[in-house]
Formats: sequence, structure tokens, C-alpha cells
Amino acid sequence: MKNIVVHHFSVTKEQRSMLKNQRPLLLWFTGLSGSGKSTIANALEEALSEKKHHTYILDGDTIRNGLNNNLTFSAEDRSENIRRIAEVSKLMLDAGLIVLAAFVSPYRTDREKVKTTVESENYIEIFVNTPLVECENRDVKGLYKKARKGEIKDFTGINAPYEAPVSPHITIDTTKLSVKEAVQEILHYIEPKLKLE
Ligand code: PPS
Repeated sequence: MKNIVVHHFSVTKEQRSMLKNQRPLLLWFTGLSGSGKSTIANALEEALSEKKHHTYILDGDTIRNGLNNNLTFSAEDRSENIRRIAEVSKLMLDAGLIVLAAFVSPYRTDREKVKTTVESENYIEIFVNTPLVECENRDVKGLYKKARKGEIKDFTGINAPYEAPVSPHITIDTTKLSVKEAVQEILHYIEPKLKLE
């Protein structure tokens, strides 16, 4: 960017990561509203904390109440939402954290950009693959009912698209796995990657 000269700070991200004794990773949960992203991320964070890992959760409702409270659910604003979250995640990875990000993130190209922003080796995509009919049956927040009545426009799965991941690192079928089992599956995959070489 014009007239911006990046300052080089002395403490490196490698040093921060060594102090935390972990390799930072971005665990990106994608799936429909009500699919269970935040529930699984929460249980996973509990498990990681018990193992003395340093973590942070970013999720849709929190970020959209603060940092991104000027954004709507249009395709354009969702892209901007995800772009900002990717930049925040990058800073958190630099700080040495394991970041658990739970966002609908319905567009493949937006998720691809996240991967590029944080560098692909730091990005683990977790597809919380709960079918629409199941999410709608649960309707924890009552949003599907409102969307069906036409009270919410651009609602993912109803009148806005969800582009399922083509080759996620992990797929969780919440109709077959309990939250505990989902956490075990994710831990099994990420634990070797969290170790410093
Ligand atoms: S996105 O698509 O990634 O920008 O969405 P995200 O930031 O994850 O926000 C999703 C949460 O916002 C609520 N909500 C909606 N979701 C989808 N479509 C529409 N139109 C919408 N309006 C509000 C909903 O509670 C989502 O939370 P989760 O936890 O996913 O159910």
C-alpha cells in the first residue's frame, strides 16, 4: 500500500510460538446456520485448553456484533466479513495461538482466500456437514422459521446459497457423531500438527 512502510519488530512469530510450545493453526469450521459449528468449536477449545494449548474462538454472532456490525448478509458483505476475519486470524496466528473460527462462510472463493491469507499449511478446513432438513428441524434460534415466512432475506440454505467444501480436511456428520466424538476426530487429526518440529 502507498506510503506504508512495514516496521520490522524484533520478536518473531516463531519465538511467540515457541513460548507457547505449539504450532499455531487456524481451524476453520464451515457449515449451515445451526449445523453445530460453535458447539463443536467450544467443546474442542475445552479439550485443547485442558491439554494446555493457547486458543481463541472467533464466531459469527460475536464478530457480527462488534468488528463487523456494519455488514449485511449480501454476498458482497459476507465476502468482506470473511476477509476481515481472515486478517484477524492471521494476526492471532502470528501471536502464536490456535484459532478456532466458526462461520457459515458459504462461498468457496472466500474460503480459498482465507487459506491464502494465512498460508495453506496453517489452514485446516472442517466441514460441519449437517443437512439442511436437520438444521431446520433443530432451529435453535428460530431463524429458519422466520426465513421460511420471508422475514429474513438472503438466509443461507433457504434463499441464499451454501457451497459445500470439495475437499475439506475433516468432515463431521453431526447426525452420526456426538459432539464428544467429533472433538476426538478433530483432535486425532490436528494433534500431530500442533507439535513443534
Ligand atoms: S457468513 O455467511 O459467514 O458471513 O455468516 P456468519 O458471519 O457466520 O454469521 C452467521 C450467523 O448469523 C445469523 N444469521 C444468518 N446466517 C445466515 N444467513 C442469514 N441471512 C443470517 N441472518 C442472521 C445466524 O445466527 C448465524 O449463526 P450460526 O451460528 O451460523 O447459526
